[in-house]
Amino acid sequence: MSIKKWFNERVQIDTDIFKSFSSEPVPDHLRHWWWCLGGTPAYLFIVQIITGILLSFYYIPSVDHAYDSVQNISDNVYFGWYIRSIHKWSANFMIVAVILHMMRIFFTGSYRKPREINWMVGVFLFVFTLLIGFSGYSLIFEQLSYWGLTVAGNLMSSVPLVGPFLANFIKDGDAISQFTLSRMFVFHAAILPMLLILLLGIHFTFLHLQGITTIYFSEKTKKKTFPFIPDHLFTEIIFAIILMILLTFMAIVFPAGLDEKANPLITPAHIKPEWYFYFTFRILKITSISAAVLILGAAFFVLLLWPFIDGLIRKKTKNEYSVFIGIGSVFLLCALTLWEAFALFYSH
Ligand code: HEM
Repeated sequence: MSIKKWFNERVQIDTDIFKSFSSEPVPDHLRHWWWCLGGTPAYLFIVQIITGILLSFYYIPSVDHAYDSVQNISDNVYFGWYIRSIHKWSANFMIVAVILHMMRIFFTGSYRKPREINWMVGVFLFVFTLLIGFSGYSLIFEQLSYWGLTVAGNLMSSVPLVGPFLANFIKDGDAISQFTLSRMFVFHAAILPMLLILLLGIHFTFLHLQGITTIYFSEKTKKKTFPFIPDHLFTEIIFAIILMILLTFMAIVFPAGLDEKANPLITPAHIKPEWYFYFTFRILKITSISAAVLILGAAFFVLLLWPFIDGLIRKKTKNEYSVFIGIGSVFLLCALTLWEAFALFYSH
C-alpha cells in the first residue's frame, strides 16, 4: 500500500489543494533570479531562525553575563564562531535582499492596482527586518551597541504622543538596565520574528490570490508560464546553495567580532549604529532630534502610502515621475549613508 493511500485512509485531506499550490504556474520572467528576489530574504530568514535558535542555547540575556556569553560562543563553543558569524552575515544579506526586492517592485511598478495592500504589508516587513537587526545588535552588550541603544532611546523620546512611553519602555527611566536587555531579547527572539512570520503569511496569501505581475520583453513570452514545482523551486535551491557558500566565505574571512564590554560610565568618542541606520544618524547630525524624528516619520508614511501618492501624481500630471522620484530617493539614501560612513572612517 502506498504511503499516500495509508495516510489518506486515516486523515482525509484533499491533496489536490497541495497540488494546485505546488504546480501553480508562474510568469516566464521569474526564470531569472533578479526578478524573483523575494525568495532570497525568505531563505535568509530561515537561516536566521535556525542559527538564532542555536545561539540562544548559549546566550544569556543578563547585563552581567550577556557579553561574556557571546565571547564564550565565539571562543569556546564548538563551531560557535561559525554559527554566530552566519547569523550576523545573513542578517546583513537579508536587509540588502529586502531593499533590492523593494527596488525591483518599485521600478517595475508592481505595487500598483490591485497590489497596493501587499506593498503596505511589504513596508512593514522592511521596518520589522530593520528592527530585528537593531534589537539583535543590542543583545551583544558591547560599548557601541550599548550607546547605539542609548541614542535610539533619545530619538524615541522625541516621537510625538507616544515618544516618552517608548523611550521609557526602552530605557526604563534614565539608564539602559536589565529590563532593557530582557525586552530587546524578547523582541528579537520572539515578538518580531512572529510578526514577520504573520506578515509573510499575509504577503504570500496575497501573492497567491493576485498572482505575480507579468513582466515581458516580447509578445512571445507575454503569456508563457512554468510550474512553481519543480522549475522555480530549483532556481531557489541553486541560489540558496550559492548564498550559503557566500555566507560561509564571509564568516571565515570576516568573522563576527566583539568591541569592548558596555560601560555606562564611559561614552565612546564615536557612537555608530549598524550600516543600515547610518542615514538616520546623518540626518540626526545635520538637523536636530525633533527634526530627524519628523523627517523619518514623514518618509515612513510616504513609503507606506506610495501606491496612492503615485496614483495621484499620475492622475494630475498624466506623466510617469515615479522612476525619477525612485532614482532620486535611492541616490539621497546612498549619499547620506556614504557621508556618515566616511565621517566615521576619518574620525578614527
Ligand atoms: C522579508 C521580506 C520579504 C519577503 C520574504 C518577500 C517575499 C516575496 C516574494 C517571494 C515575492 C514573489 C515575487 C518576487 O520574488 O519578486 C514577493 C512579491 C512582492 N513583494 Fe515581497 N517580500 C518581502 C518584502 C517586501 C517589501 C519590503 C515590499 C515593498 C515595500 C514587498 C512588496 C511586494 C509586492 C508588491 C509583491 C508583488 C510583486 C509582483 O506582483 O510582481 N515585499 N515578495
